[in-house]
Amino acid sequence: MAQPTSEQLHPAGSSTGFVILVSIVAALGGLLFGYDTAVISGATDFLQQRFQLSNFMLGWAVSCLTVGAAIGTAFAGKLSDTFGRKKALIFAGILFTIGSILSALPNSITFFVLARMVGGFGIGISSVQAPLYIAEISPARLRGRLVSLNQLAVVTGIFAVYFVDLAVSNRGDVAWNVSMGWRWMLGLGIVPGLLFIILLFTVPESPRWLEQRGRGDEALRILTKVDGEVRAKKELEQIRHSIQSERGNVSQLFRPGLRKALLIGVVLAVMQQWTGINAIMYYAPDIFRAAGAGQNSSLIQTVLVGTVNFLFTILSIWLIDKVGRKALLLVGSSVMAVCLFTVGIAFRHGTTGTWVLFFILLYVAAFAISLGPVVWLVIAEIFPNRARGVASSVASLALWAADYVVAQLFPVMLGSIGAMVTFSIFGVLSLFTFFFTLGLVPETKGKSLEEIEQMWR
Ligand code: BGC
Repeated sequence: MAQPTSEQLHPAGSSTGFVILVSIVAALGGLLFGYDTAVISGATDFLQQRFQLSNFMLGWAVSCLTVGAAIGTAFAGKLSDTFGRKKALIFAGILFTIGSILSALPNSITFFVLARMVGGFGIGISSVQAPLYIAEISPARLRGRLVSLNQLAVVTGIFAVYFVDLAVSNRGDVAWNVSMGWRWMLGLGIVPGLLFIILLFTVPESPRWLEQRGRGDEALRILTKVDGEVRAKKELEQIRHSIQSERGNVSQLFRPGLRKALLIGVVLAVMQQWTGINAIMYYAPDIFRAAGAGQNSSLIQTVLVGTVNFLFTILSIWLIDKVGRKALLLVGSSVMAVCLFTVGIAFRHGTTGTWVLFFILLYVAAFAISLGPVVWLVIAEIFPNRARGVASSVASLALWAADYVVAQLFPVMLGSIGAMVTFSIFGVLSLFTFFFTLGLVPETKGKSLEEIEQMWR
């Protein structure tokens, strides 16, 4: 295959640095996502003591964020179609910051849950809008990599907040942590929140949204900065054509071609969660303890999970525009299936400890190169211009709802049907994801958003 020339990679007048910087700013939305979902793990013991929570109420205090996020995604599409991608992201940052402040103040669990839901609402919006904004501003040849920066930020947030929690809890004894420590853990979210809001004022609006609003001159200026004058003009032509040839917005999603796009978006979104990643993310220390690790080593193993997740997400960013989305999904889901069945069998035969650790780390690595970044990318790129806001909201809503189900049911499943059956169910769903991808998911590597749109016609 011919290698791209340097002119193809860096067209005259374009600035790759510019689009990378803009994508990094938007990807900070992923950092808030990671921070907010993981911060609670260091606070649960203290919250339970402070508010005298039953296990059920503790589960609710943890999972209410996903409910807030699901509600947020439901509004995200309309919001960003009406006010623009950039304003939707700023609004998400404001909600996240307010949520952080409010969740540091409560003296009742009801107030706490409401505060977390406000933050979750913001997370829901940014989880869908950040990848979508990056997809709409990136040149096709870099889109996979740039959108995946968002996932890198999610895993960085998850990892970093673990150390924030540790640093805060080391500042005082248990009594201090029960009255104050958890407030600091949650409240410190205002730091990334404010940073996100401030930096967003420096990025441009999405050219595809501008064109839909009849602001073609501004759109052309931004496209030129990203991809050089010649390509920018051609791209704007294609965007115009795509917008004119689409009738309505939501209704067209149910036309035969696009029905398939919606099916792919929603099924992959649900499978990203139902193959069990957050059973590992939220409950890793419990799983490692059940597999025979002591308190200290379960802590070290949790750090290992974060490190593997981070490193393999970087590998995925390197691969995603080279080998494509489909190959990564196929390799990832099959390795995940093997690992999940093996962990199930290990629990069944009492062969736990190192083996469980090894296969869980391999599972996380496989997720990090595939379903982690690729699903968010697919949701951001497979829908046509006019329907993208609303359609990607629908798929993300499915993702957050599926996340809620796993977070709530995993401990119950472990207690009732046991580890072997539970992990095997995740394994079967990983196999399903493999065959679903093989049969239905098209390759979108290197195609412009408008070319992808043509594939559904
Ligand atoms: C998922 C999250 C998950 C994270 C782990 C994201 O892509 O949407 O639910 O916690 O990856 O890395």
